[in-house]
Amino acid sequence: MEIKKIGICGCGLMGSGITEVSAKAGISVVVREVNDDFLSEGLARVEQSLARAVSKGKLDEAGKKAVLDRITGTTKVENLADCDLICEAVIENLPEKIKLYRQLDETVKKEAIFASNTSSLSITEMAAATRRPGQFCGLHFFNPVPVMKLVEVVKTVATSEATFAAAKAFGEKVGKVVVSCKDTPGFVVNRLLVPYLLDAIRALQDGVATKEDIDNAMKLGCGYPMGPLELTDFVGLDTTYYIAEILFDEFKDHHYAAPPLLKAMVKAGYYGRKAGRGFYDYSK
Ligand code: CAA
Repeated sequence: MEIKKIGICGCGLMGSGITEVSAKAGISVVVREVNDDFLSEGLARVEQSLARAVSKGKLDEAGKKAVLDRITGTTKVENLADCDLICEAVIENLPEKIKLYRQLDETVKKEAIFASNTSSLSITEMAAATRRPGQFCGLHFFNPVPVMKLVEVVKTVATSEATFAAAKAFGEKVGKVVVSCKDTPGFVVNRLLVPYLLDAIRALQDGVATKEDIDNAMKLGCGYPMGPLELTDFVGLDTTYYIAEILFDEFKDHHYAAPPLLKAMVKAGYYGRKAGRGFYDYSK
């Protein structure tokens, strides 16, 4: 099935990014948020990102308008009924996601494919809550979505080949390189990235080096765009902690155990960039 119209649930950081890349690829988008305030905030983020592209000469004003014209915002799940693909990027809470999928399953046309942008929750469990487990997969994008070239397409034991092929074609249409993986906590990227971030926090905790030196070591020694502590601030300390807990719970491997320093910082509300404070201070 060719994806001509996509319904996106959630217009936060990830949902607004998926909205932008889909509309840029010529796909009609209906994006749903739970209330008007969240919706306006998310749509403003899309507009700002497009304005940035205009200011850099990558898009002209007419192109920006054409992209925005392909996007419709809504607070009603019913307005997603005729979409070919539903991409869900709501809060990382399995019961909340399952509740939404049950509602979508009742409302959205029966040929439509469902995909979750979850970074670590079980796609299989979400799929099993619907009457279309064969038409269910993961589509895991990376932050910032307009910049990062990867999407992980996640197959469960029930995902049909036709669903996988349509999800892969969609990922390529929105300009991403697709890697395929099975439904296992963290997929490929977070399974490898999270222990690296946790080890960097352990190194800081053990006084191996300052945060600046740990970050510079990895940036300049390995060519990474951000050091691990800077990247943890970018991803969110709460998000990193949450993913680590899921990975640890599954694998019972000490590499996935959250270091006490991370736990303490999360408890203190030092969530990273979004909170104005993480390993670094962003209040200014
Ligand atoms: N939206 C759109 N474009 C953006 C952007 C955004 N939010 N942020 C940056 N850009 C664009 C800029 O316009 C710029 O474009 P040009 O090169 O065409 O001028 C380019 O990206 C580089 O930006 P900057 O010059 O402002 O800054 P930078 O060079 O420091 O790059 C960065 C910023 C792209 C974020 C880079 O630091 C980077 O790649 N960091 C690593 C990000 C990463 O690892 N993300 C994955 C996190 S893990 C995840 O998301 C999954 C999960 O489940 C937790």
